[in-house]
Amino acid sequence: MNKNIPTGDSKKIITNQKGIHEKLDEVVEKHLTHPFQKPYQTHTEQAFKEMDEHVGNFLLSTPNGKIILDACCGVGQSTRLLAEQHPLALVIGVDKSAHRINRNVEGFSLNEGYQAKNYHLVRADLNDFYRLVKAANWPVSQHYILYPNPWPKSKHLQRRWHGSAVFPQMTAIGDELILRSNWYLYLAEFQQAAKQIHLHGDISKVAIAEQSLTPFEAKYQASGQECWQLRLRRKS
Ligand SMILES: C[S@@+](CC[C@H](N)C(=O)[O-])C[C@H]1O[C@@H](n2cnc3c(N)ncnc32)[C@H](O)[C@@H]1O
Repeated sequence: MNKNIPTGDSKKIITNQKGIHEKLDEVVEKHLTHPFQKPYQTHTEQAFKEMDEHVGNFLLSTPNGKIILDACCGVGQSTRLLAEQHPLALVIGVDKSAHRINRNVEGFSLNEGYQAKNYHLVRADLNDFYRLVKAANWPVSQHYILYPNPWPKSKHLQRRWHGSAVFPQMTAIGDELILRSNWYLYLAEFQQAAKQIHLHGDISKVAIAEQSLTPFEAKYQASGQECWQLRLRRKS
């Protein structure tokens, strides 16, 4: 059986939250005022070093080139599609799962004859990778986070990206941050958290396209679930 063809049986999010988590502002404030000092894991440091070299070479050869970060890229379908859509950009897909990163994406193809070469997929933990990208000041134009794990139980707020200790660094990356989820409340919480750092943007429905950006998007839409997008822009 091809595991990549959406089966349309994806369950809707079930949560014990009635609305935005009551501790959200407090948790974000805590992370904004207390630096995240956990040591980096060696494998992520090494992966970052390799990517940093690619970024350095890319910027030397393409001084105004754009860098697109595809965080939580899973099997990298979105990374490849973004690379195809932005042939002059360097697209970097990051996921902590070696299994997903190394899996072939079946049931999806780029335009006939097109071989995107302008992307890399890297196995790394974003809790570390984000801090390294921020410290290296990569000029990221667009930062995608597509269908992150929702952690819908109230007690797991701090496992959601907006409740995590790396929130200040992750939101400092990219002129634009594009986040998609099938759980509207996840995006509403992220939107509220982002206000604390003066990042603003709207939530809209993701239209059903011929080619979904990711396998999770395809699966949710095939199950009749609405997908949502939050687009945050940094004011220059
Ligand atoms: C629900 S999947 C979505 C994958 C893909 N974006 C898609 O839509 O098909 C969430 C992904 O986030 C990755 N992930 C979760 N926490 C991560 C972390 N700390 N660092 C890197 N990747 C992480 C998981 O390995 C998983 O592949």
